[in-house]
Amino acid sequence: MAQLNEKRVLVTGGAGFIGFHLCKKLSEYTSNLTIYDNLSSGKLENVKDLPKANFVKGDILDLTKLCSLEKADLIYHLAAQVVVPYSMENPLEDFETNAHGTLNVLEKARKDDARIVFASSAAVYGNPTKLPTPEDYGFNPFSCYGLSKVVGEEYCNMYANQYGLEVTIMRFANVYGSRCHGVINDFLDKLSRNPNRLEIIGTGLQSRDFVHISDIVEALITSVQKEKAIGQTYNLGYGKTTKIIDLAKMILKILDLTNKTVITTTNVSWKGDINTIWFDISKAKKELNWHPKITLEDTLKEMIKERKLGDDINTH
Ligand SMILES: NC(=O)c1ccc[n+]([C@@H]2O[C@H](COP(=O)([O-])OP(=O)(O)OC[C@H]3O[C@@H](n4cnc5c(N)ncnc54)[C@H](O)[C@@H]3O)[C@@H](O)[C@H]2O)c1
Repeated sequence: MAQLNEKRVLVTGGAGFIGFHLCKKLSEYTSNLTIYDNLSSGKLENVKDLPKANFVKGDILDLTKLCSLEKADLIYHLAAQVVVPYSMENPLEDFETNAHGTLNVLEKARKDDARIVFASSAAVYGNPTKLPTPEDYGFNPFSCYGLSKVVGEEYCNMYANQYGLEVTIMRFANVYGSRCHGVINDFLDKLSRNPNRLEIIGTGLQSRDFVHISDIVEALITSVQKEKAIGQTYNLGYGKTTKIIDLAKMILKILDLTNKTVITTTNVSWKGDINTIWFDISKAKKELNWHPKITLEDTLKEMIKERKLGDDINTH
């Protein structure tokens, strides 16, 4: 297998949260790195912070443009519509981007005979009855987003079986870290606007498996250097679950707001919200020798410091 530094790498969605961190690390290995992103949710500042990468603004739904990109040896396919409530409001658009878009990227991989890593999600399991959930639990999506990721996975499997494409499917739990979006940022935004009250959407009893972005990047880079990962699907989480209400309490504790901020809940959540994400990560540990290292507690402190949130709140 060619070393990573000899590979021409294409990252779809490279201007987004996970893509940015992945490309930053990949830049240390290869000088031939292309980001393909339509900037629908990705940020130009992320691209600007990746001076070694070649950026092409484009849509994965534009097959002609995608296939006219320089030949790739390795494709990380991260571009997606990633918001569950949005998928429930706009199922056709979600399907177009996540299912049809993935099929286009597979066509690019087939044309180039490139190895491909597909970013999938815990949403393919829906509300699993088996916790922690292993990879072979099966599909039972609960949202349009989850279903469009199932379709993406199934096309990956079809291309692997019928065309011999080298595919690895990575199911991410809740990825967090600097520049992330999602519940942690949502809480920090709300608290910076009003430190007296923190509203949780839903009951607060939903729980998530939070995994740090640097652990995810390590798994993504390690996997493509392993023959064994070809044709495999891996859960990438921390292997622990945290209730959203406890996450809120952890944040308040760090900010010294425990007895000052009132936590409220809307009780009703958005359509498609999952109760519990808790991954069984033993397969990735064994086959990729991957062991997530970073804890939520430590990173929350860093994220709060980075946003200077404590200072903001003290000046309110
Ligand atoms: N962040 C998480 O916790 C998480 C969890 C599970 C799965 N995932 C998956 O990981 C991948 C990356 O997620 P992220 O958190 O970095 O999201 P993100 O929104 O930050 O990144 C997605 C990127 O895809 C780009 N994009 C969207 N539609 C496109 C299109 N049609 N053509 C070209 N580019 C397009 C966006 O501009 C953005 O830069 C996604 O596939 C997502 O479904 C993420």
